Amino acid sequence: MGHSHITIHKKAFRPYLSVAQLDEAVTALAARLNADYAGREPLFVVVLTGAFMFASDLLKHITEPCEIVFIRVASYEGTGSSGVVQEIMGLREEVQGRHLIIVEDIVDTGTTMHHLVPKLQANGPASVEIATLFFKPESLRHKIDLRYVALEIPNDFVVGYGLDYDGLGRNLPDVYVAV
Ligand code: IMP
Repeated sequence: MGHSHITIHKKAFRPYLSVAQLDEAVTALAARLNADYAGREPLFVVVLTGAFMFASDLLKHITEPCEIVFIRVASYEGTGSSGVVQEIMGLREEVQGRHLIIVEDIVDTGTTMHHLVPKLQANGPASVEIATLFFKPESLRHKIDLRYVALEIPNDFVVGYGLDYDGLGRNLPDVYVAV
């Protein structure tokens, strides 16, 4: 990986995780999923946009028959008491009775997953689990069941490997952290 700092939108980042380190963590997570979902034909629900690179690498290592769908989650400031209203776009597959695995880039406060999981549960799947590339345990503000985490990281802002800083940086093969 590059050994020097990079600048995105005038913000400095330093190298944090290399392609090799990411590959090792993603491969290990895929091995766990292969073991746990053997014979269950899971439906991977990839959350765009941040998870695209992680999902691509993870799914190449899935050796069990599976289906893959891409969704987008739109958040609105609602007028109701809940504050945030979430809508799932792109889920046309029948999820009734299926084993769903949400593929997410990062669980930070947990707000996204806190709203998404019950929405998916409402469609009657056999099970719903979350597979996330990154998890920031220090930031978590909701009680969520996280069974599949590739890497736990400190509460710092990261960019690269699909994750962006204000729209930029998703294309970087390595991950950088704000300095
Ligand atoms: P949560 O709902 O607070 O868990 O945040 C989830 C979303 O926030 C992720 O899907 C990312 O889009 C974004 N996010 C949180 N932390 C970072 C980060 O360090 N870098 C880039 N995006 C982040």
